[in-house]
Amino acid sequence: MRAVIAREAGDESVLAIGSAPDPCPGPGEALIRVRGTSVNRADILQRRGLYPPPPGASDILGLEAVGEVVTSPPGAAIAPGDRVMCLVSGGAYAELLAAPASNCIPIPAGMSFEEAAAIPEVFITAFQGLMRLGGLQPGDTALIHAVASGVGTAAAQICAAAGARCIGTSRSPGRAAAAAPWGAEPLPVTTGEFAPSVLSMTNGHGADVILDLVGARYLEDNIACLARHGRIVLTGLVGGRRGEADLGTLLARQGTITGSTLRGSTVPEKAEIMRDFADWALPLFAASTLRPVVHAVLPLAEVAEAHRIVEADEAIGCVVLVP
Ligand SMILES: NC(=O)c1ccc[n+]([C@@H]2O[C@H](COP(=O)([O-])OP(=O)(O)OC[C@H]3O[C@@H](n4cnc5c(N)ncnc54)[C@H](OP(=O)(O)O)[C@@H]3O)[C@@H](O)[C@H]2O)c1
Repeated sequence: MRAVIAREAGDESVLAIGSAPDPCPGPGEALIRVRGTSVNRADILQRRGLYPPPPGASDILGLEAVGEVVTSPPGAAIAPGDRVMCLVSGGAYAELLAAPASNCIPIPAGMSFEEAAAIPEVFITAFQGLMRLGGLQPGDTALIHAVASGVGTAAAQICAAAGARCIGTSRSPGRAAAAAPWGAEPLPVTTGEFAPSVLSMTNGHGADVILDLVGARYLEDNIACLARHGRIVLTGLVGGRRGEADLGTLLARQGTITGSTLRGSTVPEKAEIMRDFADWALPLFAASTLRPVVHAVLPLAEVAEAHRIVEADEAIGCVVLVP
């Protein structure tokens, strides 16, 4: 099969199309003909040699795919010909992919592969952070960092669908405003400080749930603007992994900080998350309450350009690759 091969660790120029052996599905795995995948921040880190695939995973990049089932294992809920979206630990930048059948869910009826490719990783990450770990309730205020990102634009829509208010940050006023159509109230963070603005926008209440895609750089302000019994869900570290904060404030607010990565979840854990997500989100996609946000669709052969767009923080939503 054709697949993206990384010659070595490095910048996007190390990526090129080459040939690789067809994947052999193991027990419980389906073979998927890939019709689309999206570029994730984790792919960039892996390409640079900073985020090796977990043991046993393909060393081909790509954590999610949409496509048609070619073969499925005995007893699976999916069958050959089904249009599915899936999460994997690697291997999706290719024409064929072996994926755990339990980590495949149906593509919303009538949706194109290109649109569906902008769903799995970003929507499921946002759903896991806001709904399953953050316990977002109607009437809550959520603070979503990097709201113009793939995960951010998904999170803003999940807040709206859940009846919660969403304040969305970006380092650029233009990118913060770009997320307004998905229900986010823009909050540019040009100085690195945002807690006073969040407290003033919420009349001193603060944020009930913070979906933090940034990490260390925002830790201190996250705690400073957390509501009583508020939940910070750490989901990304683009702003660094070592931070300093006033733990006394966290204590006094009875606050919680938790972390989550989909890639670090086991196959059964992912299956449970995906089942919950499918039950909650598929009817909302069918009603167009939730919509994939596609920044660009590029052929797999233009993978280097796709990585450049994401790495330069130019994308609003997802950059989709089509084999
Ligand atoms: N835990 C998981 O399971 C999981 C799954 C998928 C993604 N993620 C994480 O979620 C985040 C968003 O992912 P994505 O694929 O949607 O990413 P993305 O579209 O590449 O967006 C990341 C955004 O972060 C902001 N950013 C970059 N560097 C920053 C810095 N130094 N300080 C503050 N903000 C910075 C930029 O937004 P502005 O330029 O607008 O500020 C950028 O657009 C990433 O951190 C990714 O690793 C986690």
